[in-house]
Amino acid sequence: MKKIEAIIRRNILGKLKNELAKINISGITVLEAGGFGKQRGHFIKNENEEIDEEVYLVPKYKIEIICKDDIYLDIVNIIKKVCYTGKHGDGKIFISNIEEAIRIRTDEKGESAL
Ligand SMILES: Nc1ncnc2c1ncn2[C@@H]1O[C@H](COP(=O)(O)OP(=O)(O)OP(=O)(O)O)[C@@H](O)[C@H]1O
Ligand SMILES: [Mg+2]
Repeated sequence: MKKIEAIIRRNILGKLKNELAKINISGITVLEAGGFGKQRGHFIKNENEEIDEEVYLVPKYKIEIICKDDIYLDIVNIIKKVCYTGKHGDGKIFISNIEEAIRIRTDEKGESAL
């Protein structure tokens, strides 16, 4: 199993949810997040977001998806496609291995628990 964590622009979540619904993901967690990347949260000229120069945590969503190994590349490609604008702040995707999952209600384990 893989965990995909992506930091995305807030205005893209609805479209991303619709695109992910077209493939068979079993669940998603969305967290309100704030942070900064290379630009250190400073206002960027021409970036279509109003950011106070004093606010160093740019509002983003962080999404987390745990999925089977055979589907993670499809998910990553959808995120890349939907979130790309070519401008600073498009976000990042982090991928890691997941050792175990447990559905609490049934005690199913591994991929059956997803
Ligand atoms: N190395 C990192 N670790 C954890 N979170 C990160 C990291 N890099 C970026 N983020 C998070 O992702 C958000 C978006 O980052 P962003 O896309 O601006 O990255 P960047 O490296 O500055 O690239 P770009 O030059 O395209 O803007 C940040 O606000 C922060 O929350
Ligand atoms: Mg940036």
